[in-house]
Amino acid sequence: MPEKKVLIIDADVASRNFVSRHFLNQKYEVLQAGSGKEGLIHAWRDRPSLVVIDPTITDISGEELARKLKQDLRSANMLLIALSSDSSAMRVRSCLDAGFSDYIFKSGQAMPVLMETCNRLLGVSVMAVKKGGLLMVFQSPKGGTGTSSICANVAMNILVNQPETRAVVVDLVLPIGSIASIAGYTGPQNIVTVSDLPPEVATPKFFQETLTQVDIWRFSLLAGSPDPESSIHLKSARIADIIAALKAAYDYVIVDIGRSLSRITLPLIQNSDLNALIVSTDIGTVSLTKTVLEYMKGKGVNPASIYAILNRAVGLEGLSKGKAEEALETPIRMALPYLGGNMALANSQHQPFTLKFPKDSASIVLQEAAREMVTMARNLRSEAH
Ligand SMILES: Nc1ncnc2c1ncn2[C@@H]1O[C@H](COP(=O)(O)OP(=O)(O)OP(=O)(O)O)[C@@H](O)[C@H]1O
Ligand SMILES: [Mg+2]
Repeated sequence: MPEKKVLIIDADVASRNFVSRHFLNQKYEVLQAGSGKEGLIHAWRDRPSLVVIDPTITDISGEELARKLKQDLRSANMLLIALSSDSSAMRVRSCLDAGFSDYIFKSGQAMPVLMETCNRLLGVSVMAVKKGGLLMVFQSPKGGTGTSSICANVAMNILVNQPETRAVVVDLVLPIGSIASIAGYTGPQNIVTVSDLPPEVATPKFFQETLTQVDIWRFSLLAGSPDPESSIHLKSARIADIIAALKAAYDYVIVDIGRSLSRITLPLIQNSDLNALIVSTDIGTVSLTKTVLEYMKGKGVNPASIYAILNRAVGLEGLSKGKAEEALETPIRMALPYLGGNMALANSQHQPFTLKFPKDSASIVLQEAAREMVTMARNLRSEAH
């Protein structure tokens, strides 16, 4: 879990105490400083993960303070948030340029915004830490390409290959998830209900104890939103923290985001150990996939982390593997043949394809892919250290 230590730098003692109380309520350890100089001493000595600064402090300007913190190795990774009564656009700009991650105005609504921002940024920074379970994200730029079926079957095969490990599948497809219906899970817990829990409840231990293991599938499931109305209530700021907790509790955290590439899921893709990208064989999908690939690379996703899968979900026709690779300028690591109605049949009976049709060549492909993805993710993780 995140080390929740915050330093509040503000010349006004009443304001400092007010902000402190909110952080204390959310179980942060709180430090205070009344000047920039005092703040620097605390930051370098006590190493908070987060520094909330009123940039209008006068002994050192907020911008100067941010630059000093960002330039010093002891504080370069700290998250800096400005909480300010100065609402001029120029001030906002100069603070963001100086290294603040966000700028929040002191107003009636400041505290909920500040807490949400801090929890979210801290969660993302924790998720970025390359330790704990391996994070694998499955996505496709287009719907109906077999992402959820492949995600569930690969997860299951990872556990067949390595029965001593633990894996959780997280369904983040909005507005309705489908892994629960594929795996036959009908329990009460899902991503929306869990996002509603306060951080101190949604701990690694909580997930280990409450997420049901779906028998023949072997993985634990954090089901997706059951309907559009629920998805509207998803507290997306909690996702990063939930993923971080799951990484602390499981060897593999396998996330289906379907085609929901968004502000919510981008941090997952950026921080995952492996990005499975499902492509179907029609030219339209291949060109959409190319666009998404370019976008991901622009957002700092390591091209070596991309595991492209060609799935003939819609029929025999379409591009060959070679032609698709050429168009994508990316190697295709696995190709799943057209399975007629068999994948749909296995899904509707809540059975892993590989158990229902063990002799089918696709079962061997899925099992082999599971092995390869684990090796690839492990290698990338060890390179990151
Ligand atoms: N290789 C295949 N051959 C035949 N049918 C397939 C194949 N792969 C998947 N399917 C079928 O295609 C349909 C869509 O699969 P699935 O729900 O896994 O796709 P998805 O990309 O997750 O879709 P969605 O966009 O709804 O989330 C299902 O009926 C599934 O059984
Ligand atoms: Mg799906």
